[in-house]
Amino acid sequence: MDMYRQQKGSFLFIFLFFVVIFLAEFSQGDEKSIGMKLEMIHRHDFRRNPDNGMQSLTQLERIKQSLQSDTIRQQKSRNRRQVREITIVSSKCTDKVSGEMPLYSGADFQSGEYFVSLSIGSPAQKFVMIADTGSDLTWVNCEYRCHGPSCGGVSRNRRIFHADHSWSFDTVPCSSSMCKVDLVNLFALPDKCPSRDAPCAFQYRYLSGPDAPGIFAKETVTFGLTSGREEKIHDMLVGCSEASNDQSFQGADGVVGLGYSNYSFALRAANIFGGKFSYCLVDHFSPQNMVSYLIFGSHENKDSSTEHIRMRHTELVVGVVDEFYAVNMKGISVGNKMLEIRPDTWNVKDGGGMILDSGTSLTYLTQHAYQPVMDALKPSLKSFERLNLTIGQLEYCFNSTGFNEKMVPRLVFHFADGARFEPPVNNYVIDVDEGAKCLGFVLLTWPDQSIIGNIMQQKHFWEFDIANRKLSYGSSSCI
Ligand SMILES: *[C@@H]1O[C@H](CO)[C@@H](O)[C@H](O)[C@H]1NC(C)=O
Ligand SMILES: *[C@@H]1O[C@H](CO)[C@@H](O)[C@H](O)[C@H]1NC(C)=O
Ligand SMILES: *[C@@H]1O[C@H](CO)[C@@H](O)[C@H](O)[C@H]1NC(C)=O
Repeated sequence: MDMYRQQKGSFLFIFLFFVVIFLAEFSQGDEKSIGMKLEMIHRHDFRRNPDNGMQSLTQLERIKQSLQSDTIRQQKSRNRRQVREITIVSSKCTDKVSGEMPLYSGADFQSGEYFVSLSIGSPAQKFVMIADTGSDLTWVNCEYRCHGPSCGGVSRNRRIFHADHSWSFDTVPCSSSMCKVDLVNLFALPDKCPSRDAPCAFQYRYLSGPDAPGIFAKETVTFGLTSGREEKIHDMLVGCSEASNDQSFQGADGVVGLGYSNYSFALRAANIFGGKFSYCLVDHFSPQNMVSYLIFGSHENKDSSTEHIRMRHTELVVGVVDEFYAVNMKGISVGNKMLEIRPDTWNVKDGGGMILDSGTSLTYLTQHAYQPVMDALKPSLKSFERLNLTIGQLEYCFNSTGFNEKMVPRLVFHFADGARFEPPVNNYVIDVDEGAKCLGFVLLTWPDQSIIGNIMQQKHFWEFDIANRKLSYGSSSCI
């Protein structure tokens, strides 16, 4: 007995020894290998889809489209789901490598969202997907067991994942507990189960447009790193969306779920790459050669990072508001004056709270925060002619001839732990057209969660350290 225990002890010792060596190797290793970097494409970037003619849209039309898509999102997030408990492996031991994906922007689409390029299946089929921190499911326009004359993808004016051509496509059976229990939060329909092995079906719902039906599968997802290397995640839960014409996602082939959920791409990738991901969003309307990156793992190895970013930190609140990343707010100040906002506005338990979302363009505030913010900002714009533009739910627009950012008092988000987020004025007095600007806030009725959207997040670097529940951010040119 004793012998055995001792042996076990020494095995453990040897094992730990190798772990230490392994970690030491990594910490000394080439920094460049500690990360995964994906290019992010903004929706308003016509490189993404040069031949669909949408690049001729005016800025006004683009903003209108952004708002339309936001409305769709708002409806989606109202389908509140259960609070979840998710375990994520602590970062230290899994800090294998990290990487970056280019993050493109694209105005030629109906929203101010950011895209990344991913491949799905074996052999890999390539797609352009919305990078969405407000989604837990990764899904793609897809055909499964398609034999009709309209099959084959060439007949339709969009890219489609051909599940039948992939040998790694493995449907989730509708009789499995994964379908019956785990995926119910993702709109699984376990009752729609004609036979034990039939695929687990889902039905996504949107306010406008048709419901999006599909099936769940486990698939291999491949992403090209900027280093030229490729990384694969196997058995990733993917929704094969069989909606014939999902207008609301026109221009993208699907969504990469960056939300906080057991099955999201973000958590799978974060588990490989040090428990965290980050991005820096360039201005929606910045020149086309500017690229944002979605980075998994350590960001310190950004090749070109000559810029020193002064990082601030606050608690990243996860598992409380569905799949969303939330922050604890203390309040909002305008011109160094703390606004009077009811404290329950920021309290999740009272139905409030604040989330950070890469998939929503504008910033949404519930009425008790919205009114004080608007009232504090409007007086500085009194000298400008008010414009009656019908741009979504934007209330206050003006003729910006002669406008100068210094005229507007600075707005600051104060987090409960004392950290401040001070966005540039451009992030909340937003350009909507030549010579026209609007206050970029949208009113939500109470109770609801307020949302810091992606326009408000621009020109900042954001790191979501899921393993350590820490949000770090800093002003950056994102180059
Ligand atoms: C997520 O995974 C953990 C560990 O596997 C499990 O305990 C938990 O119930 C899962 N949560 C959901 C919502 O499926
Ligand atoms: C603004 O425009 C809308 C629609 O064009 C119109 O119904 C409304 O009366 C206008 N409001 C003002 C104050 O001019
Ligand atoms: C704004 O005002 C200027 C002059 O005051 C005018 O030339 C311009 O057309 C106006 N722009 C809009 C969008 O109303």
